[in-house]
Amino acid sequence: MAEITLKDVRKTYGTVEAIKGVSLDMADGEFVVLVGPSGCGKSTLLRMIAGLESITGGDILIGTRRVNDVEPAERDIAMVFQNYALYPHMSVRQNLAYGLKNRNTPAAEIDRRIATAARTLEIEPYLDRKPRQLSGGQRQRVAMGRAIVRQPAAFLFDEPLSNLDAKLRGQMRIEIKRLQRSLGTTSVYVTHDQMEAMTLADRLVVVNAGRIEQVGTPLELYEKPATTFVATFIGSPSMNLLQGKDMSAGWSLSPDVVRPNAEYTLGIRPEDLSPIPADSPGLPFAATVRIDGIELVGAESLLHGRLKNGSELIFRVSGRAHNEIGDEVKVGAGAEALHMFSANGGHRHG
Ligand SMILES: Nc1ncnc2c1ncn2[C@@H]1O[C@H](COP(=O)(O)OP(=O)(O)OP(=O)(O)O)[C@@H](O)[C@H]1O
Ligand SMILES: [Mg+2]
Repeated sequence: MAEITLKDVRKTYGTVEAIKGVSLDMADGEFVVLVGPSGCGKSTLLRMIAGLESITGGDILIGTRRVNDVEPAERDIAMVFQNYALYPHMSVRQNLAYGLKNRNTPAAEIDRRIATAARTLEIEPYLDRKPRQLSGGQRQRVAMGRAIVRQPAAFLFDEPLSNLDAKLRGQMRIEIKRLQRSLGTTSVYVTHDQMEAMTLADRLVVVNAGRIEQVGTPLELYEKPATTFVATFIGSPSMNLLQGKDMSAGWSLSPDVVRPNAEYTLGIRPEDLSPIPADSPGLPFAATVRIDGIELVGAESLLHGRLKNGSELIFRVSGRAHNEIGDEVKVGAGAEALHMFSANGGHRHG
C-alpha cells in the first residue's frame, strides 16, 4: 500500500501539450477519481502513473520512491482497462495466475490467492472457462481479479465499466467500492461519467484541458464548485447559468445578493428551483418561464423552461409535474441556493 504523489507533471506529444503541470497528493488507501470531458488528459495521467507513458516534466512518487524512470512491472501497481485485456486462449484460472507465475510466486501461494479472489468476486464457477464463454460483467470481474491477486500497492482503473449496460454498471460500481474499502488499496479511477465519479470517490479531481480544475470531496464540489466548468460538470442535469445584467430576460435578483449593474454569471441547480405562486412576495431569485419540455424520470420530473430571451432554465419537482407544455410558471430560489461566478473566467465569488 502506498501514497501516490504527482509534482508538476507534464506531457507533450510533439507540439500538443496534453498535461500542463499537474500536482496532486493521494493518500494511502484513498479512492481518487479523475473526471473530465473526452480528451482532457485523464488516460494520459493514469498511464504516466502506470509507467506506460513517459513523462515530459515533473516527478511521480509511489510511496517515497521516485518512479519517473522505473519500468511499469517494477512499480507495484495493477491496472484495469476498459477492454479488460484478458488472454483469450487462457482459462480464467490461467489469466489470474499469469502475472504471479511471471514473478515466480510459489504455486501454493498462487492457488491460495486465486481461491480468495474468486470467492470475493464470485467467479468460482467460471475458473475453467475461457473469456469468450463469459458475459461482459463476468469478464470485468476476472479483470478485477487479475489486479487483486497481485496485491499491488495501488490499483489504476481506466473507465473499467464503460462497456457494460447501465444496470450492470451500477452493480459493478457498488462491488468495486466495497472491494476497495475492504482491501484498503490506494486507487485511482478514471471516468467521464459524473454519476460514477460522485458515488465512488473519496476525493474527486476535475480535469479540464490538461489541468486540474478543482479537487475535493464529491459534496464539496457539488456545493461549492470553484468554476462554472465544475458547476456544469458535476450534478445532473447541469446547473443553470444566467448572465448578469440581462434583466430583460425575465428574471430578477434581490439587490441584497448583488449590486445593480454588476457583471457576473449566476448559477442555480435545477433541484434548488421551485415553482412559486405568481403573486408571491419576492424571493432573492425569481423568474418567469414558459414550459417547453417535461420529462418524467421515475420519482421526479424535469421541467424545461424558456426565459423571455430564449435561454433555458431547468427545474426539478418530485413526482409528476402539474404543468403542461406552454404554461407560464414562476420559479424562485433562496439566497443559499445561488452561486455567483465572475463574468470573465467563471471563478466563484465567496
Ligand atoms: N500518442 C499520442 N499522440 C498525440 N496526442 C495524443 C496521444 N495520446 C493522447 N493524445 C492527446 O492528448 C490529449 C489527452 O488524451 P487522453 O487520452 O489522456 O484523454 P482522455 O481524457 O482520456 O479522453 P477520453 O475520455 O476520450 O478517454 C488528447 O488531446 C489526445 O488527442
Ligand atoms: Mg481516456
